[in-house]
Amino acid sequence: MKFFVDTAEIDAITELNDLGMVDGVTTNPSLIMKSGRDIIEVTKEICELISGPVSAEVVATDAKNMIAEGRKLAKIASNIAVKLPLTWDGLKACKVLSDEGKMINVTLCFSANQALLAAKAGATFISPFIGRLDDVNLDGMDLINEIRQIYDNFGYETQILAASIRTVNHVTQSALIGADVITAPPSVIKSLIDHPLTDRGLDQFMADWAKTGQKIL
Ligand code: E4P
Repeated sequence: MKFFVDTAEIDAITELNDLGMVDGVTTNPSLIMKSGRDIIEVTKEICELISGPVSAEVVATDAKNMIAEGRKLAKIASNIAVKLPLTWDGLKACKVLSDEGKMINVTLCFSANQALLAAKAGATFISPFIGRLDDVNLDGMDLINEIRQIYDNFGYETQILAASIRTVNHVTQSALIGADVITAPPSVIKSLIDHPLTDRGLDQFMADWAKTGQKIL
């Protein structure tokens, strides 16, 4: 399973990339706003750091301008995935831009039918938002399950990019279901390693080793 990091913070991306845990990056207008950076500049910097797909989202809401913005964003680097919202205009833009050979990430997916439409429009990635479904008392994992089944039924190659991940359990469940990719905030990816028995076990080994008086180096 691929790990994308859901941030536009260069330091956080670099830290996880140095650990070998970044297969790609996703951004959105809110994350660009939080970074305080210019979208073109920061996206270019991310693309220089990461060779995998880097999602950059359009902000136009009509197909014509989405296409124009998508073409401009795609010029930043060859690993840009143009991010388009799940609307009819977004799907129209998806068809045009994917026919041009650009990677497309269709975002704000909240239903299996929306995911089916995105696959038919040629999306490279579909981004179902797990956490935001959980926020309204639905089960985001049910949606990942449904999309996996539908895409497998028909052999769609659109990759399921489980998004809006808030907990380590979302990552486990996405992996069990067979999502192709997760995108998560740096804090969630860093928490994946946590286990109290690992910490306790290491403390015990270090204490016993100290009693031997030995050194390896
Ligand atoms: C996905 O690409 C989005 O950027 C992101 O996962 C949204 O997450 P949020 O619901 O925590 O804002």
